[in-house]
Amino acid sequence: MITGAIAVMTSGGDSPGMNAAARAVVRTALYEGVRVFGIYNGYKGMLADEIVELNSRSVSDLIQRGGTFLGTARCKEFKTEEGRRKGLENLQKHGIEGLVIIGGDGSLTGGSLLSKMGGIPIVGLPGTIDNDVWGTDYTIGCDTAANTAVDAINKLRDTASAHRRIMIVEVMGHTSGWLAMTAGIAGGAEYIIVPEVKYDLDEICAEIVESYKKGRRYSIIVVAEGACSGVGLKNVVQEKTGIDTRVSILGHIQRGGSPTVEDRMKASMLGERAALALISGVSDVVFGFDEGKVVSINLFDSVNNRKPLDPELVRLASVLV
Ligand code: F6P
Repeated sequence: MITGAIAVMTSGGDSPGMNAAARAVVRTALYEGVRVFGIYNGYKGMLADEIVELNSRSVSDLIQRGGTFLGTARCKEFKTEEGRRKGLENLQKHGIEGLVIIGGDGSLTGGSLLSKMGGIPIVGLPGTIDNDVWGTDYTIGCDTAANTAVDAINKLRDTASAHRRIMIVEVMGHTSGWLAMTAGIAGGAEYIIVPEVKYDLDEICAEIVESYKKGRRYSIIVVAEGACSGVGLKNVVQEKTGIDTRVSILGHIQRGGSPTVEDRMKASMLGERAALALISGVSDVVFGFDEGKVVSINLFDSVNNRKPLDPELVRLASVLV
């Protein structure tokens, strides 16, 4: 049971809804009578003692903002035991008795290493647009990113159709195909290429040529960055089909923007649960969602397993796309 103070940090790539989650952690802790600190700039800030006490107003005017007010960074030093020890000492110096880490796989792995050293209870929240954290259906920011990608696909279809072009849309997701698969299905793409599913480019190109002969005006191919490069794919497709082809790499635009209602709500629910669990003495868990309900996942299981692409999404794409 924690009665003194906890801290919250964001780490790794930012994602829309991280602010909503941090806000919920801060306000829940204060509601429970526990002080709360913000660690700025991820593990780098932990090591540099960028640790500041927060109040309720520190998290005002944030729920609608993308990015993370706490900042985030990648930190090589934290990968060493010496680095982690320094981080732990800084937390202890401020009287921090528990830590909520909001981030992706790599950030949660950092938390698991910190926990193994002892000295501080850790609760993780999955925050990444990639939706690739094991044990949870959902990660904070994935819904906003999917909506951003779908909005781009809608616009790209207009211009592709006007010119009778093939449009390749490269979507983020690191090594996971979730974002591409979801945006491709929701955006009505003709083809979706993801790392988890085999594809035959010759067959795809032959099909496209046939469909253009029958009058088709455009073809959208959504490709996950983890499957292959959009630029490379564009060159091959153009050569094989002889049809004018363009590529649009959506890039970091998918990471920004005001979070959707789903991301705000789920991030708020997860933030509350994380703070309550930590305060009541729980450690080494990640909170996520399973079939619409908040669930707790063992932190070590989460970081030591690779999340597969939902076979139901793959099946749906095989029927509709
Ligand atoms: O993990 C989130 C993510 O946006 C991935 O989809 C992408 O591969 C990576 O981060 C990009 O990282 P950076 O912002 O460091 O270029």
